[in-house]
Amino acid sequence: VPRDYRTLFERSARTYDETVFREGTYDHWVWLREQAYLLELLDRRLRDRPVRYLDFACGPGRIIGFLEGRVASSTGIDVSAPALELARAKLTRSTLVCGDLTRDPTLLEGPFDLITVFRFFLGAQEELRREALAALRPLLAPGGLLVIGLHGNNLSLRGLTTLARRLAGRRVPALGYYAMARLLRQHGMRIVEFRGITPLTQKVWALAPEGARRGIERLVRRSRALQHLCVNLVVVAERSDAS
Ligand SMILES: C[S@@+](CC[C@H](N)C(=O)[O-])C[C@H]1O[C@@H](n2cnc3c(N)ncnc32)[C@H](O)[C@@H]1O
Repeated sequence: VPRDYRTLFERSARTYDETVFREGTYDHWVWLREQAYLLELLDRRLRDRPVRYLDFACGPGRIIGFLEGRVASSTGIDVSAPALELARAKLTRSTLVCGDLTRDPTLLEGPFDLITVFRFFLGAQEELRREALAALRPLLAPGGLLVIGLHGNNLSLRGLTTLARRLAGRRVPALGYYAMARLLRQHGMRIVEFRGITPLTQKVWALAPEGARRGIERLVRRSRALQHLCVNLVVVAERSDAS
């Protein structure tokens, strides 16, 4: 992870796009479940309105590509031109903006009823996390949702390996539900619900037969406590001043 997360995709956007979410991988398995949750959220919480949608740090367009056909209008923004090139090829009706909203708030005109931010907060340095939340908060419509994909909750099995690697002097990013909740609170937002996808790390998941993976998934869905221990979380927030 680069020290300034803004430079992440100067070179590696294509590799990310082509390899990370390939069918059969752990990340693909998780992504399928995140997709189901996104659809459920749209249906359960935003059914009453034509949804104006923003995908912040959209990268090569994974999330916006999945959602653009299901909302009234969609916009993706990212600092990486190569990533947006890849996104453009997947999209048919979205607006794409290349730039840094944290430096130039005039790049986008809100409000948005749905803002997704996936795989951004974990890797982003603390300052960028804050700058992003400060930039996004004014764009969120009253009653709108900020949906955050956190792919490395530190209150999970992964947290143990992160801790071990940190003790060994490596720079490994860490972020969990409670730190995210605090950041949101400090920026005038609060968590309204969340979904833990799986407590299995990639390595353990790879060793487990599909039946066991699904058995654990069913167990986790029934327990909020177990969801807190999942490696991948999707956190849903709204403005604190929403009724
Ligand atoms: C790991 S990728 C995630 C892409 C996509 N959201 C996904 O989940 O597949 C992180 C993205 O954050 C983008 N990024 C970093 N800093 C940014 C900023 N200040 N504004 C917008 N995007 C930024 C990077 O260019 C990169 O595309």
